[in-house]
Formats: sequence, C-alpha cells, structure tokens
Amino acid sequence: MRQTEERKREHILISLKENVMAHHNFWDDVKLVHNALPEINEDDVDLSTKLFGKKLGAPIVIAGMTGGYTRAKKINENLAAAAEKFQIGMGVGSQRSALENPDLKNTYNVINNYDIPLKIANIGASQIVAWDKKKILENTEKIVDMINADILAVCLNFLQEVVQPEGETHAKGCLKTIDMLSQELSTPVIVKESGAGISYRVAKSLAKTSIAGIDVGGAGGTSFAAVEYYRAKMRNDYLHMRGGKTFWDWGIPTPRSILEVGRATNWRLPIIATGGIRNGLDVAKSLALGASLAGIAHALLKPAIKGKEFTVSELNIIIKELQMAMFLLGIDKIKKMATVEVEYEYKE
Ligand SMILES: Cc1cc2nc3c(=O)[nH]c(=O)nc-3n(C[C@H](O)[C@H](O)[C@H](O)COP(=O)(O)O)c2cc1C
Repeated sequence: MRQTEERKREHILISLKENVMAHHNFWDDVKLVHNALPEINEDDVDLSTKLFGKKLGAPIVIAGMTGGYTRAKKINENLAAAAEKFQIGMGVGSQRSALENPDLKNTYNVINNYDIPLKIANIGASQIVAWDKKKILENTEKIVDMINADILAVCLNFLQEVVQPEGETHAKGCLKTIDMLSQELSTPVIVKESGAGISYRVAKSLAKTSIAGIDVGGAGGTSFAAVEYYRAKMRNDYLHMRGGKTFWDWGIPTPRSILEVGRATNWRLPIIATGGIRNGLDVAKSLALGASLAGIAHALLKPAIKGKEFTVSELNIIIKELQMAMFLLGIDKIKKMATVEVEYEYKE
C-alpha cells in the first residue's frame, strides 16, 4: 500500500477509535434567542435552499473526508446514498491518491451512482502549489471529471501538514495559484480550511481572487493536530506527538471565522460552515451567523462506517432538529435565518 493510501486509512481508523475533537466546541458559545410567539406552524418550515445554482433539500453538505484506499469506497457510497435521500451536497476527500493511482478512482466516483445535487471535488493546496500551471489545470480537470463535480474545493491544510511526520509544508505561492485556478478552471473553485479556520485578513486576500465561496473549516470539531498526534504515537515519533499535542486546539473557532470572513467579503461570497457541527441546532446557529450551508464531517463518519441506513437515520435527525430550531425561532425559510437574533460572545 502506498504512503498516501496508508495515511488515508489511518486517518479514518484514528478518527473512529480515538477522541480527536478539539477540547472546546465553540458552537456551545452561540445561543439563538427563543421566539415564544413563532406565529408559524412547524409544517410551514421550508428547509430547501439554492446555492451555486443548485437546489438543495436542506442547507447541509457532507464535508469531504475520504477516498483513496479500498475501504473508503463503501464509506463514500453510504454517505452518497444519504446525500441523495435528502438532496444535500457532498464532498469527497483529497483526490490526490487517484491521480497517483488510477485504480483508486472508484473509491471516489462511486458517488456518481447517486443523484446528488451538489458534488464537491477536493485537492490540497500544498499539493497543487508544487505543480506548474499546465499540471494544475490538467489534474484539477481530471478530479472534477472523476466525480462530475459542480465545484472544486482547494483545501488549506497547513496545520495538518506541519504536524504530520511526512507533511508537505510548502505554502509559498498558494494565493497566486488559487487566483490563477479560480480564473482559468471552467468549474467554480472554493477555498476550504480543514479545522483551523479563515481569518478576516486571509478572507480579504481571498476576496481579490475569483473564487466562488469559502468553507471556513474552523476549529472546535475534528482536530487534525489530534489525528496526527495519534499517527505519530503509532510510530513512537515523539517530536510529532509533541507537535500534535501543542497545536491540538490551534485555529479560529468556526463561529468566529464565519463572522470574520463575512465582514471581510461584505457577505458577497457564500460561506460554508464546517467544523464542530454536531446536530441540527448547530446548523441553525451557523445559518444565523450568516453561513449559507453547514458542513458536517465527523458526526457522519461513525454512521457511514455502519451502513447506509445508519447514515440516513443520523441525517434525518439532524434535519429534523434544524426544522425544530426554525419553528422555535419563528422562521419558515432558510434565507430568513440570517435575521435571527443571536447571542455570541467569543471565548478563548
Ligand atoms: C477522517 C477525516 C478525513 C478528512 N480528509 C479531508 C480531506 O481529504 N480534505 C479536506 O478538505 N478535508 C478533510 N477533512 C476535514 C473535514 O472536511 C472537516 O473540515 C473537518 O473534519 C471538520 O469538520 P467536523 O468537525 O465536522 O469533523 C477530513 C476529516 C476527517 C474526519
């Protein structure tokens, strides 16, 4: 098994077996103000929304997690079946492995057997920055075609790379590469952090490119420093164990990142709120802060390992909770969620 495949496998195994969550979930700091006179019926709540020209059954996307090793096919298939059922978006994990080994394509393109309204291809910024322009465009077109993606996410994962024993820590030229790609790729490009969040300043820089949206991928949920801590532990690699521990809680909390990105971009770019979303109430909180969609990764991983029906059942609960929250807020349409009264005090 190649190194990339082995790493993908370990990421999933560790995320299932160990506690890889940040020590504080920042969604607990966000409170939505109860509306004792909702003046709507629960049945009036319409969860559908439109983003990137696609109609979704609920403002949720399954955040990219896997692909690139044999068992990932089943996980992606189970997630895809649930995405089809609820007509929500779905991303796959970094498709680098399939570029290196075409035999692994089926671990990603298995999702093409399902009718998913919004599919998101994925590649790490630390990989594309090392390629020349021709290779960047060829390879990104390949991974978009692989899953018939509607958009491409360029994943900023420098926290993971820096604490990872074999990490690729070249970030020089990243913004320029994103700018070029966002102008030249025929598919819309979004930028996605993967657990350390996007600040006001970074969002200001990104806003000058032609990207179509930002997934803030903030802190408070899965910590990749934690995942890499456990990988280093498996190898008795004390240096990287230490790094994983030290940077376990590094990053900008997801709720704060939504506000920073929104302000920096004058709310012109759609924001996806990934990082620490556990239930439908967290989804409602992210929408109230200004996100267009909430992204969920870890909360769907355990059900996805068990099977389609478990994944469908968990998402059904999350979606029902969102409906309950909207009823209690007196909100019947997703668009109106941004008008909800929010109490949020940022805590370190
Ligand atoms: C096992 C695992 C693998 C992941 N792989 C990727 C990846 O390849 N590309 C990416 O952009 N994000 C990846 N992520 C990050 C998620 O998309 C998400 O941003 C992060 O887990 C935070 O969401 P959560 O708190 O709901 O888990 C991965 C997450 C997990 C748990």
